[in-house]
Amino acid sequence: MKIEISREIERFGPIKIHGVQKVFELDGGLKNADNDEEYNPIMQRIAYDIQHEIQEQMAIVVPVRNEKIKLIEGVLSGIPHHCQVIIVSNSPREPMDRFKLEKDAIEHIGRFMNRKFLVVHQKDPVLTKAVEASGYKHLLDKKGNIKNGKAEGMILSTMLAYLCGKKYVGFIDSDNYFPGAVLEYVQEYCAGFFLSASPFTMVRISWHSKPKVVESNLFFAKRGRASEHTNRILNRLISYYTGYGTEIIKTGNAGEHALTMEMAMQLDYSSGYSIEPYHYVNVLERYGGILAPPSDKVMKEGVEFFQIESRNPHLHEVKGDQHVKDMSLAAMEVIYHSPICPPALKANILEDVHNRKLLKKEEDIESQLHYYPALYSADFKKFKEELKNEEYAPLFVQDVSKYTPREKDKKLMRDTKAAKIKEIPKEGKLEVK
Ligand code: GDD
Repeated sequence: MKIEISREIERFGPIKIHGVQKVFELDGGLKNADNDEEYNPIMQRIAYDIQHEIQEQMAIVVPVRNEKIKLIEGVLSGIPHHCQVIIVSNSPREPMDRFKLEKDAIEHIGRFMNRKFLVVHQKDPVLTKAVEASGYKHLLDKKGNIKNGKAEGMILSTMLAYLCGKKYVGFIDSDNYFPGAVLEYVQEYCAGFFLSASPFTMVRISWHSKPKVVESNLFFAKRGRASEHTNRILNRLISYYTGYGTEIIKTGNAGEHALTMEMAMQLDYSSGYSIEPYHYVNVLERYGGILAPPSDKVMKEGVEFFQIESRNPHLHEVKGDQHVKDMSLAAMEVIYHSPICPPALKANILEDVHNRKLLKKEEDIESQLHYYPALYSADFKKFKEELKNEEYAPLFVQDVSKYTPREKDKKLMRDTKAAKIKEIPKEGKLEVK
């Protein structure tokens, strides 16, 4: 892959947010190719061999709920062979066992591909027991089952990816119509990790376009309906503290993203579809220097966000207006209820959700989402022990002792009582509209 270096970088304490980077060539050739061109300071070449090395250390999580099996098969065919694929399904098991059908189909194509997929159901009682044993009970509902939601499936799969010894974890939605786009996203994850100088890195895909049929013609829309608003509000949050307007964030809702395992372990998460915007909010909360930081190592090494613009269009299942509205409201909620959200921005958000009729005029944004403390508070040895008889246990590595839970880590950073606000920002600094 050949990719431009980031033109703009927004710096926020030790956090670097790179502006969107364009891919110029999908195939960058081999590391020591005979025809290697001269060094070009504004382009980066990520050779095949390097992509391959990173992919061997990467788990790709595919969350599934009620998707067409043909779509899932297409997605799996696009994931590079050496990535460990983890499929976490929350499809219904009654009256017909949809998960059984999915697993059967996945194992069948796995035979042709000669690869072992790790396939689990989000509500599997054995996994539930393992989560309980790990002490990470936040994921469980009142009945003791793992909660519904895309984020909840992603958190669970991150725990499994860690047991598989992976250094990187990436996410690809299972309703993508183009296997070629899936392959490209994974290559872009690798490119971001290759370019990063920090072990705490996140790579987010900014789709080139989303094709739609408008008046019988194909129209390639640049952004999704929710992202436009999420990006604007996240950028205002940054502007408020830096005092400079910015448009750096273009991937506020990026479902397609990947993290180094070190990063994945250091973040608090939020539920459902709010997880992606909350990545930005939480990194600013934890490491932006506004609240007392929970890890000196992260403060020293820094956090890097890469936003890479894919070449393939993104075509996925359309799930309706209400779904987009719910997703957008959830994104607004995590910003609105963040301890670092200044009053002036709160007023902005409220006005925006009323104007867009996501809420009625008199309604406030209630706190309806769940929050999950960073995963390093889980006991992975106990988690693994409970899963030792599962068919996928041979995929796990021996030593999972890197993260040892400490009582004080079990708190959410966004818990305002726990978070010490060093400096209360003055109002009125916010750049509005
Ligand atoms: N395991 C699991 N559990 N998977 C789920 C669940 C769940 O409860 N709910 C949804 N999924 C899966 C879906 O099957 C799909 O593969 C993926 O998660 C995304 O869900 P969609 O419902 O298709 O979301 P979307 O396409 O509208 O939105 C996507 O793109 C947004 C950016 O535009 C998501 O990735 C959003 O998170 C993202 O913000």
